[in-house]
Amino acid sequence: MTDSRNILLIVSGGIAAYKALDLIRRLDERQIGVQCILTAAGSKFVTPLSLSALSGKKVYTDLFSLTDEQEMGHIRLSREADLIVVAPATANLIAKAANGIGDDLASTVLLAADKPVLFVPSMNARMWQHPATQRNLAQLGQDGAQFLPPNDGDLACGEIGTGRMAETGQILERVESLVSHKEGMLGSVTALVTSGPTYEPIDPVRYIGNHSSGKQGHAIAQALVQYGAKVTLVTGPTHEPDPPGATIVRITTAKEMMEACLNCLPVDVAVCAAAVGDWRIEATAEKKIKRGGNAKTFDLVENADILKHISAENQNRPELVVGFAAETENVIENATNKRAAKGCDWIIANDVSNGTKVFGGIDNKVHLIDHSGAEEWPQISKIAVADRLAKKIVSQLKSNKRL
Ligand SMILES: Cc1cc2nc3c(=O)[nH]c(=O)nc-3n(C[C@H](O)[C@H](O)[C@H](O)COP(=O)(O)O)c2cc1C
Repeated sequence: MTDSRNILLIVSGGIAAYKALDLIRRLDERQIGVQCILTAAGSKFVTPLSLSALSGKKVYTDLFSLTDEQEMGHIRLSREADLIVVAPATANLIAKAANGIGDDLASTVLLAADKPVLFVPSMNARMWQHPATQRNLAQLGQDGAQFLPPNDGDLACGEIGTGRMAETGQILERVESLVSHKEGMLGSVTALVTSGPTYEPIDPVRYIGNHSSGKQGHAIAQALVQYGAKVTLVTGPTHEPDPPGATIVRITTAKEMMEACLNCLPVDVAVCAAAVGDWRIEATAEKKIKRGGNAKTFDLVENADILKHISAENQNRPELVVGFAAETENVIENATNKRAAKGCDWIIANDVSNGTKVFGGIDNKVHLIDHSGAEEWPQISKIAVADRLAKKIVSQLKSNKRL
C-alpha cells in the first residue's frame, strides 16, 4: 500500500454491504487508502469487481488462495493497515471474532490483527437484541474492539427497530479520528495515568471496593501512548488488557496508589482517572472475621487525596493535572466545586447515577470543566473520550508553548 493512511475494510454478508461501496468512495476522497476483504456471504450482496473498481486494489476473499498465502496474506493484510473496519459486521462475524474462530480469511485476519478494529454492525433488530449477540459484543469490547452501534429505524427486512448500519458520515468521522496522524504529537511528553478501583482490606479475605472497571483510564493511557507520550499507568485491580506501550504499575490500595504516583513524578501531565477509595478500615483484621450473630461496625479513616496532593506539589507539579469526578447528582456544579477544592486544572465529570451504565459500559457522557466553565461532550465511546482528551492535551501544551 502506498497511501499514507490505510484501512482494511472487511465486508461481510449483510444487506447493508452495498453501503460499503459508497464508504470506499468517501474514504478515497479523504485520501484514505482502502484494501478490501469480502466474505463468501458478502459476495452474494456485492461483487469483488465493484469493490476492486472503487478501491483500485485487488479484493481478497480466500484464505487459501495460493499466491496470497505464499506470503502469509492473512498476516500481511492487517500489518499494512492502520485500522481494520468491519462494515457491515454481521452477527455471524461478530460471534466468530468474539470467540476466536478463524475459519475464513476475514475471521482469521481479525484473529491475527495487531491494529485497532472498528465493528459497524448491521442486522435485524431481533438478531441485534439477541443475548448471544449482546454477549459477543461485550466480549469484543473487553478485548479492546471498538463499535459504531446501529441506528434505529426501518430495516430492510420490513421490521422496525435497532439494526440499521451507522450512516457513512458517522463511519467516516470515527475512521478519521482513528487514523489521524498522532504519533509524535506528544513525543517529548511524560504522562502519569491512574485507572481502576482501589481495594481497601477489611480482613485477609474481604475488602471495600467500587464498580470502576478501569476502561476509561486504560483508554486514556492507550490514547496518550498513541500520541507519542511516555506513559506510566498506575492501576488498581481490573480485567482490562494492559495498554501496549505503557509502563504498568499494579497496586491494590489507595496508599499504594499514592506511593506509586509520587514515585512517577516529575511528569508533564497527570490524568487521575482511578476511582480511589475515600476511606479505609482503621484497623484491618489479621485473621478472617467470623460471624458472631451481632451487627458489626468498623471505624473508617480517610485516605490521602491523590489528586489534591499531586495538584499541590511545589517543584514536581505536572504542567497539567486532570481529575475525574463521578457524580450521581448536580454533576456540573459538584464537579466545578471539586476542581476548585482539588486545585487541578481540568475535571472530567461523568454522571454515574443508576441507569447511566457508565461503570463497566462502553460509552461515556462527560463534561470537561476548566477555569472558564463546562464543555459538554456528546455520548461517545470511552475510547473516543480518551482520544478527544489526548487531542485537548496536545492543544493545551501547545498553547502553553510546551510543545
Ligand atoms: C437476504 C439476506 C440478508 C441478510 N442480512 C443480514 C444482515 O443484515 N446482518 C446479518 O448479521 N446477517 C444477515 N444475513 C445472514 C448472513 O448472511 C449469514 O449469517 C452469513 O453466514 C454471514 O456470513 P459472514 O459473516 O461470513 O459474512 C442475511 C442473509 C440473507 C440471506
